[in-house]
Formats: sequence, structure tokens, C-alpha cells
Amino acid sequence: MTTRHFLTLLDLSPSELNGLMARAIELKTELRNGGHNDPFKNKVLGMVFEKSSTRTRVSFEAGMTQLGGSALFLSSRDTQLGRGEPIEDSARVLSSMVDIVMIRTFGHDIIERFAQYSSVPVINALTDDYHPCQLLADIQTYIEQRGSIQGKTVSWIGDGNNMCQSYINAAKQFDFELRIACPKGFEPKNELITANKNRVTLVGSPQEAAKGADLLVTDVWASMGQEEEQADRIKQFAGYQLNHELLSHAASDALYMHCLPAHRGEEISAELMDAEGTVIWQEAENRLHAQKALIEFLLSQNS
Ligand code: CP
Ligand code: NVA
Repeated sequence: MTTRHFLTLLDLSPSELNGLMARAIELKTELRNGGHNDPFKNKVLGMVFEKSSTRTRVSFEAGMTQLGGSALFLSSRDTQLGRGEPIEDSARVLSSMVDIVMIRTFGHDIIERFAQYSSVPVINALTDDYHPCQLLADIQTYIEQRGSIQGKTVSWIGDGNNMCQSYINAAKQFDFELRIACPKGFEPKNELITANKNRVTLVGSPQEAAKGADLLVTDVWASMGQEEEQADRIKQFAGYQLNHELLSHAASDALYMHCLPAHRGEEISAELMDAEGTVIWQEAENRLHAQKALIEFLLSQNS
């Protein structure tokens, strides 16, 4: 049997992803009603972090504990990975001791190589190219607020980064229209746009992207690993802030999201971050519920 992984949203079928969303909502209710019956008893999640994290670490660790299992935090700073042990060797050894692994790293090829040598499911907890776990939380939030996202219009405002590229995959898997507005030189990979040109378009301005949209999404202008470009990017991204003015071009009941951490006054205004009724905090919380559903799915597929 081949081991199933979650390296991008394309690793699950649209119907599996929709099932996952329904299950995440169910698990959220179950937790609110007193918790679960330890279905992951003795299951161990290995969590490899080569970049910083708050939400991802806490949601995976809390999720495993709530389901009766446990999680190991493995930072590259104090494991042999940081001293150059090959990723393939680390994958073989780690996967012989734990039941499932999540990795946050730089190049997407690193997680692909790890998965190739892992005997247990591997989850992408963010690479330079994709952040699929965040998309599960975003789509869950949209469904909870407005129902199915199928056929809706989503606009991406800002950097064509790992989140933007995951939104392209989500447009395909969840069947919505995606309009992307990025400053010149900061577009997502061209092959992703081309492969999804029936649903995804690059537009010339944030206002054009936002026009009539049901959901507006943004993210930081400089991602982890691009810290030295921060000052220059602030100049290049002028006019790309998600704020009340931009929101006024969208549908009257439009939602807006940000995966966090956010820079108030840069990619998103402080007013929108702190607005009453924003779903951004619900979006963050849903990382917990969506990932519990994901782990349950992967463990059941590979048992
Ligand atoms: N959104 C997200 O992945 O947050 P962290 O970097 O805090 O994990
Ligand atoms: N694009 C951001 C997302 C952080 C959760 C980054 O990669 O740093």
C-alpha cells in the first residue's frame, strides 16, 4: 500500500477535501461539547520545524493531545537535521518511531524528498511554495460563515507567495474563481496560473481583483526567509493594502482573511484587523479543528 501524504491540496480529491471540512466542523462541535474519546491513544506526531511558528505548532500539539495522542517538537536547531544529516536518512529513522510527521521547511523539494523516504504520512506545515493546512482552516471558516465556497469569487491581494499558490490549488479543488493582484515581479509561478486558467486570473490592480468578490485574502509582503527584502517590499507593495477602501469594492457581505502573523498598517489596516465581527480569529482557531480532521483522515488511510 502506498503511504498517503498531504504535501499540497492536490494530494486529496475534491470529495475527500469536502469530507474533511465536514469532519472538522463536527470535531469542533465535539470539542465544545466536552471533548473526544482518545481515538489517537499512543499515536505520536513528529513535528519538524525549520522556521518559526505559533499557530501551527500549538494547533498540531493541542490537537494531538485532545485526541489522546502526543506530539514531539523537533527544531532543526537542536536535532541532527540542523547539522546536515541527510533528509532521506532523517525520514527513514523518524518514520520508524512515530505514526505521522509534519514538516515546516524552506524548499518544497525538501518535504517531497522526506515523504519519499517516510513510511508514515507526511503533512506540509508550510514550505516556500505552499501552506495547504492554512487553506483547510480558511475554507472551513468560509463554509461556517457563508456555506459552500463553490462558484464564489475570491481575490488574492499582495505577494504571489506560498499562501497565494495554495489558493490557486484551492480554486481547483473547491471549484471557485480566483483573481490575483500582485505588484509586478511578485506573481505566483506562471505554470500554476496556466494550469488553472479556467478559474484563476492575474488582474492589474487590487480594486479590479476585489470587484464584487465574496472573499478577500492577503498575507505578509515578506515571508519567512525574505526578511532582508522587507524594507524594499514595503515600497514595491504600496497600494496593495487590504483596508476599508478596498473592501468597499467587494460584495456587501464579503469576508476578508489573513493567515497571520500580520503587520498592521502594511498588508492589512489596523482597522480591519481589529474590526468587530472579523473572522480572522476564527480562521486561526480553525487550524486546530481542520488539522485534527486531516490527521484522522491520513491515519485511517494508512492503517
Ligand atoms: N498561519 C501560520 O501558519 O501561523 P504560524 O506561522 O504562527 O504557524
Ligand atoms: N507567507 C508567510 C506565511 C506565514 C504563516 C510565510 O511564509 O512566512
